[in-house]
Amino acid sequence: MRTQVAIIGAGPAGLLLARLLENAGIGVLVLERRSPDYVLARIRAGVLEQGSVDLVDEAGVGARMRAEGLPHDGIEMRFDGDPLRIDFQARTGKRVLVYGQTELTRDLMEARAAAGAASVYAAEDVAIADFDTPHPSVTWRHGGALHAADCDFIAGCDGFHGATRASVPVEAINTFERVYPFGWLGVMADVPPVRDELIYAHHARGFALCSMRSRRRVRCYLQCPLDTDAADWSDERFWDELRRRLDPEIAEAMQTGPSIEKSVAPLRSFVAEPLRFGTLFLAGDAAHIVPPTGAKGLNLAASDVRYLAEGLIGHFRERSQAGLEHYSARALARIWKAERFSWWMTKLLHTFPDDSAFDRRVQRAEFDYLRGSAAAQTALAENYVGLPA
Ligand code: FAD
Ligand code: DHB
Repeated sequence: MRTQVAIIGAGPAGLLLARLLENAGIGVLVLERRSPDYVLARIRAGVLEQGSVDLVDEAGVGARMRAEGLPHDGIEMRFDGDPLRIDFQARTGKRVLVYGQTELTRDLMEARAAAGAASVYAAEDVAIADFDTPHPSVTWRHGGALHAADCDFIAGCDGFHGATRASVPVEAINTFERVYPFGWLGVMADVPPVRDELIYAHHARGFALCSMRSRRRVRCYLQCPLDTDAADWSDERFWDELRRRLDPEIAEAMQTGPSIEKSVAPLRSFVAEPLRFGTLFLAGDAAHIVPPTGAKGLNLAASDVRYLAEGLIGHFRERSQAGLEHYSARALARIWKAERFSWWMTKLLHTFPDDSAFDRRVQRAEFDYLRGSAAAQTALAENYVGLPA
């Protein structure tokens, strides 16, 4: 079998890249380790930057996102009960769109199925070879048989624990990492959100976030110890703890109900450099992780894909190598700014178990500065809505 681009991973990065390349007439093979149902059951991100929305539209899969996504003009914050609203519209003229990653993934999957495009789900033992040459290849097992494909390029879109980054010789790659001493316990429930906007709350008992997926579905998070087992958290315990971390007015107004999903995610910052190894390119979580505070993970995957699609389309359609040559540096410049912002927002809003009294005062001063400074609010807003491509 032969294809032009073998894409490993059918998360948002892999599916969006596949769609953009196929729209440009480039042959693509997508290999995904999990089943479609498994991929769709993973609850993850919920906030899209305008640039991500535009890319989904350009890919021709934006109709449902446009119809059902909720535009948000700002966010609410609380620091030990003290309120602050960040007005994205006033500060940047931009807004974000609340639309679940699973919905976007479903739209991309359905568009691929409707176009009769080739995806292999439940592909086992995916392996890549010869990506230091112009003739790389991929192999996988499916239904008990071994399969192989030759290609021109491999796109590693297989997430943090994928096979592609792990195939790069250690001496060819640099990694940068920070692991945080806590995770997020997330709950999804079919009740109306307590407010129209997201609420990010710092509290001595730990960070809390009230997010949503629609006017009838909420997604809420609690900072939790790393060894937290979601099974130890009844719905009642979760909602009680969330209420304790919010101000009384919000706690009282908040509607709760049975959870439809509950899971723990660790927080990590991670960057691999470079993003190109011969004919292999890394994109999305395969190359970098941000802590979720600030909702950058999915948006960074989208901007990587924009640059990589431009590079690959330039190669196949115009015989231009410039886009592929610059892909790594161009994507990394944006990645590091999002890493900085996610790290900063995590530091501002979480309760760090080892912080000294001095650290806690500085954290409070950071919030007070933000509250009193239009410049600081603009800085938060322009990062949250997405820095220019
Ligand atoms: P992924 O979505 O991870 O997709 C990678 C795909 O590759 C998966 O489908 C996987 O099954 C597949 N794969 C892996 N290994 C192989 C292999 N060997 N062979 C073939 N296929 C393989 N971001 C936010 O902004 N807000 C959030 O609240 C948020 N919550 C998150 C919670 C969790 C638990 C995680 C892990 C991430 C979260 N993120 C969040 C980050 C965001 O969801 C990711 O940045 C986004 O999913 C990146 O998309 P991706 O396509 O690069 O990677
Ligand atoms: C969501 C997650 C985030 O990390 C965030 O900053 C905002 C929203 C969410 O899952 O809805």
